[in-house]
Amino acid sequence: MPLVTSTEMFKKAYEGKYAVGAFNVNNMEIIQGIVSAAKQEQSPLILQVSAGARKYANHIYLMKLVEAAVEESGLPICLHLDHGEDFEICKACVDGGFTSVMIDGSKHPFEENIEITRRVVEYAHNKGVVVEAELGRLAGVEDAVKVNTKDATYTDPDQAVEFVERTGVDSLAIAIGTSHGAYKFKGKPELDFARLEKISNMLPNFPLVLHGASTVIPAFVEECNKYGGQLDGAQGVPEDMLLKAGKYGVCKINIDTDLRLAMTASVRKYLAEHPADFDPRQYLKPARQAIHDMVAHKMRDVLNSSNRL
Ligand code: G3H
Ligand code: 13P
Ligand code: ZN
Repeated sequence: MPLVTSTEMFKKAYEGKYAVGAFNVNNMEIIQGIVSAAKQEQSPLILQVSAGARKYANHIYLMKLVEAAVEESGLPICLHLDHGEDFEICKACVDGGFTSVMIDGSKHPFEENIEITRRVVEYAHNKGVVVEAELGRLAGVEDAVKVNTKDATYTDPDQAVEFVERTGVDSLAIAIGTSHGAYKFKGKPELDFARLEKISNMLPNFPLVLHGASTVIPAFVEECNKYGGQLDGAQGVPEDMLLKAGKYGVCKINIDTDLRLAMTASVRKYLAEHPADFDPRQYLKPARQAIHDMVAHKMRDVLNSSNRL
């Protein structure tokens, strides 16, 4: 089974009112933990790679690791570029074997976002690769870029319709109150579901994408803090809100921070409890298992994507 695009996954997710998880990958243990969970859960799966991950691990290493995962698991996996900031990185990933790319023109004015997205769509579609774009702006931290809450803007439903029509994009990331990283809300978590419902009604049969969708599960924050972490005040999107989003045309839910927390909590705990150990396999094995457990939980209880293959 070769890598697949997200087209069929999204069609089934839209009809079944659930979402496919898109998990960020940076190294072998993360890929193995995620893929073994997807196999156990018989869930569709998107593995996504950010510019930072490409810089850290190198495109070809990640590509080969994902190819190994496809071969070993036999699963239909979509390999996606997360937050491509310009045409060049999208082209490099299309040419380099990815089956899906995101062009994130959300920091540009509307017309410029349309222009850059159209250019990527034209190039990618010619090569059988699908494209996600973003309209509206999330707060939080991606790579080295920090977007302050005051610079975040929610997606305008009329603009979303015009954007999709004029770009021919395959899916659209929208801003309704989620944000990247571990500090999503200062007070009570709130998402603009009325806006989501409106966008979804105005774009029937069209897959929407929710970024910044980690839950920042308190047990993992506590575990990190117990072993020397400093994550006071971390707060994410409650799981019931994510389940609800799946009912309104959200077919892809992005999760990175929860994987980071699970892995880091595990490594911190292991090293604190085994101060004499220095074999990386000893602390990466439970960390890989922590990724597996987190992803299996997401698929079963949050995305509702288990047994959908
Ligand atoms: O949205 C951003 C993802 O969490 C990836 O983060 O750019 O630090 O790899 P990164
Ligand atoms: P989190 O930081 O909430 O995990 O979001 C990840 C994301 O949106 C990647 O594009
Ligand atoms: Zn994102």
